[in-house]
Amino acid sequence: MENKGKKIIFSGIQPSGNLHLGNYIGAINQWVVMQEESSEKELIFCVVDLHAITVYQSSAVLKEKILEVAALYLACGIDPKKSKIFVQSENPDHSYLAWIFDCLTPMGWMNRMTQFKDKSAKQKESTSVGLFNYPALMAADILLYDTDYVPVGEDQTQHVELTCDIAARFNRLYGENFKLPKTIIDRKAARIMSLQNPLTKMSKSDENQDGVINLLDAKDDIAKKIKKAVTDSGREIVYEQDKPAISNLLVIYSKLSGREINSIEEEYRLKSYADFKNDLAELMVDVLSPVQDKYREIRQDAGYLGKVLDEGREFAVKKSSVKVANVRRAMGLGRI
Ligand code: AMP
Ligand code: TRP
Repeated sequence: MENKGKKIIFSGIQPSGNLHLGNYIGAINQWVVMQEESSEKELIFCVVDLHAITVYQSSAVLKEKILEVAALYLACGIDPKKSKIFVQSENPDHSYLAWIFDCLTPMGWMNRMTQFKDKSAKQKESTSVGLFNYPALMAADILLYDTDYVPVGEDQTQHVELTCDIAARFNRLYGENFKLPKTIIDRKAARIMSLQNPLTKMSKSDENQDGVINLLDAKDDIAKKIKKAVTDSGREIVYEQDKPAISNLLVIYSKLSGREINSIEEEYRLKSYADFKNDLAELMVDVLSPVQDKYREIRQDAGYLGKVLDEGREFAVKKSSVKVANVRRAMGLGRI
């Protein structure tokens, strides 16, 4: 389990639907901050396509989305000289270890997962066994690399806790093989809400896309969506529990500008919602335009993106194959 004292950071996003501001503020931006901190660490970011197929994906769309997500990681500031990026399905060790974890995980543990309850309620009869087992695959992603920290949004904390439970059970039954990871959450950024319903989180699968700012949305659409964003009763621009809509917009403003919420409240004390929304739209376009330009540049250079993903895969396979060999030995699998 040694890695020369380097802390290992692992996270991933599914290539299903469009990446949105919640993914950016809640996840990718945190990754970039961690990448730029000076301490010694190994950062690994995965495009989790095997998770995406827990609900049906058309193959042509999936193929495109995998490259889109990888290119967006780079466009948002993930630097392949400092971090590794790879595609989950290109390393078969993930599904191999996931099967082992399926066999080790009591149904009762999986039954507690709130994300499964929400997602399966939407899928009804077509809910797949894969959607139910999904956290075992996520545990495999994390545990294959001796991960110390998993930076994610709030909806994933329960899955990381389950990952620790699975690791501890394995270690108890077969000896110490897995490190128990910790979740890293930016409390203020962990739950960016829909602009149309501030009581539900901004999500790829939201039917009302007016509530979702996609990272690749055109400038005009961004401005329109912000203009249409619901607000609360009253006219004060303040962060308060009974003002979920304006509080969400303030969090977004704060995260995109790097300013404290109270300094933003102070600036808008005598101004209107319309002023605030205009400025927020402008700020968002200022932040997202360079990401979009960089994204287009990367997508035009298929060779570069391919090279980054090849290097990421080689790194991942090299590391995970050692772990899988140890697991097989510990469990008595095959003739190893
Ligand atoms: P997903 O879109 O479900 O693949 O999520 C990818 C990452 O983005 C995970 O770390 C999520 O926790 C995070 N994330 C997704 N939606 C939001 C949101 N609305 N607010 C904050 N983080 C989010
Ligand atoms: N389940 C995560 C999500 O939907 C994505 C994911 C898969 C992930 N494997 C992971 C996140 C490992 C962090 C670490 O957002």
